[in-house]
Amino acid sequence: MSTEQSTPQVETPRSKAVFKWVLMIALVTFFAGLLFGYDQGVIAGALKGVGDSFKVGDTAKQIITSWVTLGALFAALVAGTAADRFGRRPILLVAGLLFIAGAIIQAITPGVGILVLGRVITGFGIGFASVIAPLYAAEMAPQRIRGRIVSTYQLAITFGIFLAYLVSDIADSAEWRTMFLLAAVPGVLLIIGVMIVPESARWFVKVGRTDDARKSLAKVTEPAEVDSELGDVEAQVAAEAAEGEASWSEVFSPRVRKALIVGVGLAIFQQITGINAIIYYANTIFDSAGLVSTESQTKATLYCVGLTNVLATFVAVAYIDRFGRRPLLFMGLIGMFVSLCAVALGFATQSTADTGAGTSIVGIITMVGLIVFIASFAFSLGPVVWTIISEIYPGRVRGKAVSFATAANWGAAFLVAEFFLTLTSGIGESATFFLFAAMCVLGFIFVWRYVPETRGRSLEEIQEMWNKGGSIKSWDETAPKP
Ligand code: BGC
Repeated sequence: MSTEQSTPQVETPRSKAVFKWVLMIALVTFFAGLLFGYDQGVIAGALKGVGDSFKVGDTAKQIITSWVTLGALFAALVAGTAADRFGRRPILLVAGLLFIAGAIIQAITPGVGILVLGRVITGFGIGFASVIAPLYAAEMAPQRIRGRIVSTYQLAITFGIFLAYLVSDIADSAEWRTMFLLAAVPGVLLIIGVMIVPESARWFVKVGRTDDARKSLAKVTEPAEVDSELGDVEAQVAAEAAEGEASWSEVFSPRVRKALIVGVGLAIFQQITGINAIIYYANTIFDSAGLVSTESQTKATLYCVGLTNVLATFVAVAYIDRFGRRPLLFMGLIGMFVSLCAVALGFATQSTADTGAGTSIVGIITMVGLIVFIASFAFSLGPVVWTIISEIYPGRVRGKAVSFATAANWGAAFLVAEFFLTLTSGIGESATFFLFAAMCVLGFIFVWRYVPETRGRSLEEIQEMWNKGGSIKSWDETAPKP
């Protein structure tokens, strides 16, 4: 149990009110992630039906699948600036509205052109939500459970993917319009949630609305701590304001560069280690595991990929603030490396012995490899990357820097989606998976060398660390004990 529960304050009615608000903030974060995840998963089930209805080929299918990523990339780039100007809540509201609009357009589309338009609009919604939801959660969450609240976001992404797989499993592919329409539900939930929660206190302080900041903080902080918390935020914002409005060039300035490299590097490693290629290829891999019928493949994808993804994310939510970010990343990358090598070996052996009884053993190793990979990603790179991105930047540039790192994540996701097929047909599946495994090794070195442990630190303390030169070694020596 976390330390806060040993303090007597937790039993007072006031603490219950704080708990209620923190829960609401976690819920808003959850709905934002749900919307992201549902869309990641729904296309796998809807695509066949879309293809049958409009008689389109692979190129159109690829555009229908991937342009949502382009929409997200573009929105992610402007989200930070917009959130700094208008506040976090209005942008989350816009994200919800865009998502509903996109879902309706996709559901009622008369043809492929309008469908792609709906996809791009949905992408805008996801791009805004993927930048602002973790940022808002990190700014509002009490520091001792910040990791847990932000990783709720990843839990919701995985839950959204699972729900979409479930809908695809239950519905017939001809019902693709309903599948898309259902995506409006998380959009509606997000809008309702955002209308209830307070605006980020940090943002209020930034725009000079101290009274509003105090009211906002009072909801998520024990009364005795409100003043000191507000003082910390004010001091930080004042120091930042003294230097004037943050520009894009400042995001790339030497002062922010180290933090930027950490966030962007993690965002890219999250994608180039192959998560979405694996999610995309799950059916093919289960095929090689001996599941011949489409129905059994869909079930295996639903439970082995979808459910494993959700369950393993709970591990991160439970341990991210106890073990810390770095240990989870290390363990996850090792698990991903080993399992990718197993899948690669599975494919290598399969291609030379793809007939007869031997195949199923290879297939089972591949299937277990796949489950271990998903689980390893889900308790590490999945949630930890979004958490770290939301907490390492100086407040003045936080909006823009989070935007940039998130856009890098979408860019890398787009490239992997685009080039995975080219790679597999060029160098083969086995070599492709070995390549992803090699990326895990690079990711491991990157984390070991550059990523600081941020568990138990306030956002202000994290800034101090960068201001003092960002040496991971000296920072780790003063790290709070689990
Ligand atoms: C990634 C997505 C991925 C998902 C899988 C997220 O953290 O950003 O690209 O599909 O995890 O659970």
